[in-house]
Amino acid sequence: MNNIFVFDHPLIKHKVSILRDKSTGMKEFRELIEEVTTIMTYEAMRDVSLVPVEVETPLEKTVCFRVPEESVAIVPILRAGLGMVNGVHRVFPTARVGHIGMYRDEETLEPQEYYCKLPEGIENKTVFLVDPMLATGGSACDALTALKKRGVKKIKFMAIIGAPEGVARVAKEHPDVPIYISTLDRCLNENGYILPGLGDAGDRLYGTK
Ligand code: PRP
Ligand code: URA
Repeated sequence: MNNIFVFDHPLIKHKVSILRDKSTGMKEFRELIEEVTTIMTYEAMRDVSLVPVEVETPLEKTVCFRVPEESVAIVPILRAGLGMVNGVHRVFPTARVGHIGMYRDEETLEPQEYYCKLPEGIENKTVFLVDPMLATGGSACDALTALKKRGVKKIKFMAIIGAPEGVARVAKEHPDVPIYISTLDRCLNENGYILPGLGDAGDRLYGTK
């Protein structure tokens, strides 16, 4: 389980407590998802490869390091994952974005893929697969399999809240993929919702219920 990173930052705790609150409205919820994602991205990018570049400061030439622009892509799992894209873009604005559409069948809880469009050359990029909720792990596992089938080799999965069941499933089925979650919750309820959780992330982001 050394590929699982749970954040223990006071700012994240503060923001997640507001996200959980059922009285938090759509606008604030959306902004907080973005902010927590940005904080997590700093840590998740710690091992991204750098290339040396020569830079001329106002005083002299020096060698610095940059993340090659073409080396990172973001893939949100639709719909709720879209809420995290701007959070990564704040830190790495040139990252290309692919989309994978998954919904959970409400009876079987099985994920169904309904859309997939990825940037050209994705197989050579580090892909940040993002979705705020890691519940049973079905959506994340299927999205990871879909990316790997299309040749992606380096993937990091980032979620705001994870249930132990989902984290264990992704770690078992995709041991090569580091999992970053801001917060590890207690368990799932009988409908596959995370407890204490924050409810339905997609509905809260987009005001659909
Ligand atoms: C939610 C969430 C994840 C999935 C997690 O999406 O955003 O994609 O459930 O559950 P799992 O780990 O059990 O697969 P949902 O199916 O509600 O679709 P939405 O994003 O369109 O709201
Ligand atoms: N999807 C959500 O949006 N919330 C949960 O708690 C579980 C799955």
